Amino acid sequence: MASFVNDLARYVDFDKQSLLVSACSIAFNPLFWNIVARQEYRNKLLTNIFGGHSRAACYALAATIFSLGMVRDFVFKNAIAEQPTHPLLLTPYVQAAAIVLFLTGNVLVVTSTWSLGITGTFLGDYFGFLMDEMVTGFPFNVTGAPMYWGSTMSFLATALYYGKPAGLLLTVWVYIVYVVALRYEDPFTAGIYAKREQERAAGKKQN
Ligand SMILES: *[C@@H]1O[C@H](CO)[C@@H](O)[C@H](O)[C@H]1NC(C)=O
Repeated sequence: MASFVNDLARYVDFDKQSLLVSACSIAFNPLFWNIVARQEYRNKLLTNIFGGHSRAACYALAATIFSLGMVRDFVFKNAIAEQPTHPLLLTPYVQAAAIVLFLTGNVLVVTSTWSLGITGTFLGDYFGFLMDEMVTGFPFNVTGAPMYWGSTMSFLATALYYGKPAGLLLTVWVYIVYVVALRYEDPFTAGIYAKREQERAAGKKQN
């Protein structure tokens, strides 16, 4: 295993600047949306920019995050295109695995967006658009963060499909970035919902 990893590492060209650019764009996206969303939550930053229209502001953020995702994927594809290909990754089994991973990852992303809606998917809770109750059906009954793991699977699939060890390395980076993002986001979102429960309870007492 160790020698296999060593072997893969020899197929990563660290001198290519595009590798670093891709790593930066992968880290930038969650940083961006967390900073902006918390500014919205605390100071209504986007709602104020949109003249008090929270829903328009949330849709604009959704469109921005979606576009940044497309840029990141484009930069990733360009970066790995410049990298060496490992012949062992071009075997039919690996190729088949890549296709299965790609399809599974996209099913997770599309179905979770479908069940949460646009505001539920793209940080609507920071704008005050809270879900009435937790969504527990598919894909949330198979994984806690289907968007993130679906996206990670797509990166892995692309790296394998093109036979690029550098793509595998960037996928590990995607995974680390998402684990860190979840550690930061989950407690905050839980806090937003806990606050609503408190307010609901207080409201009931007054009646
Ligand atoms: C998740 O829910 C779907 C229906 O919403 C169901 O078909 C599937 O078996 C469930 N999966 C698990 C692992 O519970």
